[in-house]
Parts: sequence; C-alpha cells; structure tokens
Amino acid sequence: MKQQFAATVSLTPALSRLRERETESRDASVGSVDPVYFDHNATTPVAEAVWERMLPFHRRQYGNPSSRHGFGRQARQAVEEAREQVAFAVGAHPSQVIFTSGGTEANNLAVKGVAGWMRPGTVAVSAIEHPCVIGPARDLRRQGWKLREIAVDGECRLDLDDLDRALAESPALVSVMQANNETGAVQDVAEVVRRARQKGALVHTDGVQALGKMPLDFAALGVDLMTVSAHKIYGPKGAGALIVDKRVELAPLLSGGGQERGLRSGTENVPAIVGFGAACGMISDRLARVLQDGSCLRDRLEAGLKEAGAMVFAAGATRLPNTSFFALPGVEGETLVMALDRAGFAVASGAACSSASSEVSPVLAAMGVDPALAKGAVRVSLGWGNNEAQVDAFLGALRREVERMRSLAVVQTVA
Ligand SMILES: Cc1ncc(COP(=O)(O)O)c(C=O)c1O
Repeated sequence: MKQQFAATVSLTPALSRLRERETESRDASVGSVDPVYFDHNATTPVAEAVWERMLPFHRRQYGNPSSRHGFGRQARQAVEEAREQVAFAVGAHPSQVIFTSGGTEANNLAVKGVAGWMRPGTVAVSAIEHPCVIGPARDLRRQGWKLREIAVDGECRLDLDDLDRALAESPALVSVMQANNETGAVQDVAEVVRRARQKGALVHTDGVQALGKMPLDFAALGVDLMTVSAHKIYGPKGAGALIVDKRVELAPLLSGGGQERGLRSGTENVPAIVGFGAACGMISDRLARVLQDGSCLRDRLEAGLKEAGAMVFAAGATRLPNTSFFALPGVEGETLVMALDRAGFAVASGAACSSASSEVSPVLAAMGVDPALAKGAVRVSLGWGNNEAQVDAFLGALRREVERMRSLAVVQTVA
C-alpha cells in the first residue's frame, strides 16, 4: 500500500525561529518537571536490580576474567553466569553466546565474520535492516561481494517472492531482522530460514528490538546467528552478544588476546556483561505483562492518534507491542518532536538510535511511503514505566502542538 498525502507545508523560517526558542527554553527548563520518556526503542534506563548487580564489579570485584588469582576467578565466574542468563533468555546454549560491545558490533561480526571465511559471493539483507547490518554488507562490496537488498511491502513485511528471487542468486548469508526499530514490524524469520535452508544459505537475524518485547528463541527459529543488545532491555549500554551456531565459521573483527573463543579479543566489559545477564534474567517474568499491558497502552495511544488524523505506519503488520510510528499530514516530524520535548514528552523522529541525520527514513522509503508524509514521521516506543495517564496527557499535548504548528504555518503561508 503506497501512501499518498499532500506535501508537507514548508514551515521555515517561522518555525526554525520557533525551534531555536524551543531548544533554549527546553534547556532552561531541564530539571524543573519530570519529562515522560517514550523512546524505549532508542534505549532504556538501567533497572534498579541490574544496577545493584553491576556495582560491585566496578569497585570491589574489579578483576580481569583472564587472571588466575581470586579477583580474576570471581570476574570469570560472573561473566560465565551472565552467559548462562543470556543463553537462557534467547533459547541458546551458553557456548553459543559471544559477548560484544553491543548490537552494532555483533551485527558487524555476523556479516563481516561470515564473509571473512568465504570467497566473495552474494549477501542478501532486507531493505529495512538497521544501518549496522546494511553498512557492513555495503562495505563487503569493496572486497568483491554483491549486495542484494530484499524488498518489503507497504506494511513493512518482507516480500517473500523477492526473498525467493534473492535466494536464486545463491547468497552465502541472508540477514532479516526479527523486529524493526522504527515501525516495530515483526518478520516471519522461521519462514526465511525454511526457504534459505533449501538454498544452503546461512541466516542471521537482528533480534535487538525483539528481545524482551516478544518471544525470541534462537533454537526454535533455526537461525545460524542472532544479535542481541543489553541497553534495549533495561541493561547497560556497551554490552551485547552474537549468538552463533557452532557449525558456523566466523572470522573475528579484532585480533588480540583471544577472548570469547577467539571471536572477540579484548578484556571483557565485566560490569556491563553482568548487567546484561541480570537484565536477561528479568525478561521471562516481565514478558506476559509487556505483551498484554504494552499492547493495551499502544492501542489506546493509536486510537487517540487516529482521532487526531494521524496515519500509523505498518498498522497492518504484526508489530511489537510497544511501538507506534506515525505521521500527521502537513506536520514536520522533527519540529513536532522538538515541540513535544518542550511539552515534556521524549519521542523520536524516525531512527534516533541509529543517526542524527534528518533524512527521510530509509525504512519508510523501502515501504513506498510518500516522502512528504515520511518527513512527518514520529515514533513513540513505550516501556515498563509508562501508563495510561501519560498516554492521555501526550495525546492532549500532541493536539495542542499540532494546532499551534498548523496555525503558524497558515500565518507563514499568508505572510
Ligand atoms: C534493530 C537494531 N539493531 C542494532 C542496533 C544497535 O545496537 P547497539 O546500540 O547495541 O549498538 C539497534 C539500536 O540502536 C537496533 O535498533
């Protein structure tokens, strides 16, 4: 479904002056009211229990896990416990967990690591992958690899016919994310595996956004590689993992001391890894509530958004329960995000976790969304701490800000 909407009204220069004033007054007001955080797909706060578990490893238990003395052995034990917690949370064996500095590194290791063992061929990735999958896949072209991007439909669902066409080109690796960071659209990764197996291709899935928000099981999906990250699940920034089936040969990105089975040299970030494990330990208890309460809250939000005239992207797809990506025709997303920030609501205009660029989202472009409408894209991603009162207050603020922006745009057009 291609969306057709009237062109976004040009709001400059009146609104660029407004933006400047908003930035100034927001900076001045920081600390005066508690803003509401609606940007959990970008990052989450560290949960209290996770923080408590990490603290000793910054202070008293500071050993290097490779050291043989008691300090080192304590650190090693903590890393191995965390490995078990991560493995349990994603349906893998602990020996399959390779700790990295986060999702970006794990995705780079998956793509470049697989290619590092092979003669150049084809790598196929979905057109809506995070830049840390598409980027390394593009880099491979300098080494003679061919990149095939697999199309999605207007609801952000993988085009399975195009997947088959890509598989006919015998790719060495296929990478399709489990859930999209912008729209929240969930892909049928098990089906991708089923089709790719028949052609002998390895399959990687980026599970960064899926973990903690939907069931995610490495063994059940049958993928060869899967990426996860701690800071999207109430763990710390700077820890993630690549889950690797032991039949997969990977070339490491880093050479050095040979930590993590030689696949990720460098002294382990023990506090962050411990925090990652602790955050994974909370997932199964929370998941039922995230699925139930999260989608109720999201539905409440989207009912209000639709009343306000918003278009919700990928509304027809199976989506993460916490994510709503929408646009109001004629309203520029970046400007609305700043106005909402001033009103006390932290939301994102597109893929804030991936770049500071104000270009139209490549995900929406791949979905065939009209660029004028795509410029209006705003993402709300809910989290554990959010509630109905916050959603209602947000909808009120949104209506007020949109009215104000539209009246300014009219003044601007008339002037
Ligand atoms: C789908 C997806 N993959 C990968 C990443 C990168 O993960 P990290 O921030 O841990 O490097 C992100 C978020 O930034 C993401 O949303």
